Amino acid sequence: MKALVIQSDLSFKIQNKDKPTPKQGEALIKVLAASLNRRDQWIREGKYPSIVPGVTIGSDGMGEVVEVGGQIESSWIGKKVLINPNINWGDDEDTQQDNYQVLGLPTDGTLAEYIITKLDRLVEKPTHLTDSEAAAIPLSALTAYRACFTKGGVQKGAKVLISGFGGGVAQMAALFSITVGAEVYVTSSNVGNIKLAKEKGARDGFNYTEKEWYKNVKRRHGGFDVIIDSAGGNQFGQLIKLLNPKGRLVFYGATNGLPATIDLYTMFWRQLSVIGTTMGSDKEFERMVEFIKSFHIIPIVGSVRPFGQVLEALDEMKQGGTMGKIVLTF
Ligand SMILES: NC(=O)c1ccc[n+]([C@@H]2O[C@H](COP(=O)([O-])OP(=O)(O)OC[C@H]3O[C@@H](n4cnc5c(N)ncnc54)[C@H](OP(=O)(O)O)[C@@H]3O)[C@@H](O)[C@H]2O)c1
Repeated sequence: MKALVIQSDLSFKIQNKDKPTPKQGEALIKVLAASLNRRDQWIREGKYPSIVPGVTIGSDGMGEVVEVGGQIESSWIGKKVLINPNINWGDDEDTQQDNYQVLGLPTDGTLAEYIITKLDRLVEKPTHLTDSEAAAIPLSALTAYRACFTKGGVQKGAKVLISGFGGGVAQMAALFSITVGAEVYVTSSNVGNIKLAKEKGARDGFNYTEKEWYKNVKRRHGGFDVIIDSAGGNQFGQLIKLLNPKGRLVFYGATNGLPATIDLYTMFWRQLSVIGTTMGSDKEFERMVEFIKSFHIIPIVGSVRPFGQVLEALDEMKQGGTMGKIVLTF
């Protein structure tokens, strides 16, 4: 089978691997569609801990169950499924265990024609989604669900600012917040992304590359109850200034590194919370899929292309400016 594999010099290459055989309690999935996350490109650039040559990359994917270990007949066989990318989250809803892993390093991931997963990682594909839309969900929607609801407490009427709408997680966070009736605002470096956000129900959007953009936001819309960010960097301090009293800044990444300064005075005077979050528990994964099913939420897929173009797709992601999730089909 063909798979995107980390080489000994840590570069990525499509190569042939043996098709794996499922053990008891495992399923063999024929991958039909997989999507890219920034994590895949971080690994390719060596910016991730404990990179292991020989591993197949990819955290997001869906496919059809073709074999179940130790069982000739299983109700799973023939079903289309999403794969929960959590491995060993554990029983504590508040945080993952020490041996927690994300699918796709060090365990072989979704960017291959076949993948083995434990049966308890499978959830049936929501019927309102195409294969490509379903493949765009697992990691980004899980991260967004926990950021919005568990950590951010986003609810009807809350004023929510989501930074970098071009990002896969940010888009899911915006769709989730709009669905529950929050007043959603976005930032982006891309006019097209801002237009798209408004089409999806955002009230307004701002270009964060413009000088003093945040003063404009403040002038036009006042402050926000919840801000969701993954860019970090120096704009993190500006986001803190945009919070209403008792507001929450929830962050799940630091694409632009660390902020040079943080205004601690504003933070304690306005009773603000700055909250880190990562992925989500298995229960949140189930709740997130149910939420998507109940409200017929459709993730934004920017492009669908054959698996053979995966390296070009990662190059595009590195360059930036992509809109929506990039999906590879097999
Ligand atoms: N902790 C976790 O569980 C978790 C899970 C998923 C992702 N992450 C992290 O979160 C980050 C985003 O991941 P992703 O997969 O959503 O990435 P992505 O789809 O590649 O999105 C990256 C987006 O970041 C935005 N961005 C860049 N600089 C920005 C700035 N100064 N202000 C606001 N937005 C900015 C850009 O938005 P525009 O194009 O709109 O300008 C870009 O599209 C990465 O650092 C990733 O490692 C963490």
